[in-house]
Amino acid sequence: MPEEVCPLCRGTGYTIIEKDGLTAAQRCECYQENRASSLWRNSRIPSNYRNDTLENFSNRDSNELAKIQLILKSYCRDFPAVVPPGLVFTGAPGTGKTHLAVAVLKHLMESGFECVFMDFLNLLDRIRASWDPLSGESPREAYREALETPVLLLDDLGSHRTTDWVEDTVTSIFTYRCNERKPTIVTTNMPDPEMGGKLVERSQAGSMTSWDIKTSLAEKIGMRARSRLFEMCRVIRMPVMDDYRVASRR
Ligand SMILES: Nc1ncnc2c1ncn2[C@@H]1O[C@H](COP(=O)(O)OP(=O)(O)O)[C@@H](O)[C@H]1O
Ligand SMILES: [Mg+2]
Ligand SMILES: [Zn+2]
Repeated sequence: MPEEVCPLCRGTGYTIIEKDGLTAAQRCECYQENRASSLWRNSRIPSNYRNDTLENFSNRDSNELAKIQLILKSYCRDFPAVVPPGLVFTGAPGTGKTHLAVAVLKHLMESGFECVFMDFLNLLDRIRASWDPLSGESPREAYREALETPVLLLDDLGSHRTTDWVEDTVTSIFTYRCNERKPTIVTTNMPDPEMGGKLVERSQAGSMTSWDIKTSLAEKIGMRARSRLFEMCRVIRMPVMDDYRVASRR
């Protein structure tokens, strides 16, 4: 079936307006709609997050969550005139980090900004595969994309084994994006003292008390990448609460 042609502009994307006796071309209203839906198609947001918005995020009677919602609304409103340009969501699994990050991405796409969702582990796999001529990935494609995407959402930073190669790769992506002032939105479960995460946690098994030493974000990605992350992202600390999926089943 042929695509429907816009009756206002006949598919040109412009309408002619007359003002004060002068004729001028103006973007047709179909342009914004088409752009938002093509940005949406290319964003690679996984289908289980497609319905997540700021509006359907519950504040769960928490002042802290309500405050985070306000911060994110003003971030979306002021974008791209926001300093620092990015966001890093930290906190326990199931507290809504990915939900909120995707919700922000949606707002930015509605305003016409190109955004791409990347699962961190998957990105590393793709970069690794792109060095292999038999993999079908074109050389360095995934890496180039992680550098150049106008707005990048990196989901679940730290969900990988630590190697020098991972550390170097993350450092070079963050350094480039930081220097170019390209907005980067990150979610992570990894604790970091600067973001209020505890590195030592007491656990009680029966009458025995023990201490768990957790792996920190710095150990996962290295000091240089961590310092770039704080330079380019505002920290959004999710309050300590139960996993929403568990809590909402009660
Ligand atoms: N406050 C909330 N209001 C509505 N849905 C929520 C909330 N917090 C989490 N969810 C939902 O719970 C699930 C897990 O949230 P997710 O964003 O994946 O958590 P995280 O990334 O922190 O592990 C998702 O389906 C998400 O939409
Ligand atoms: Mg998540
Ligand atoms: Zn039109």
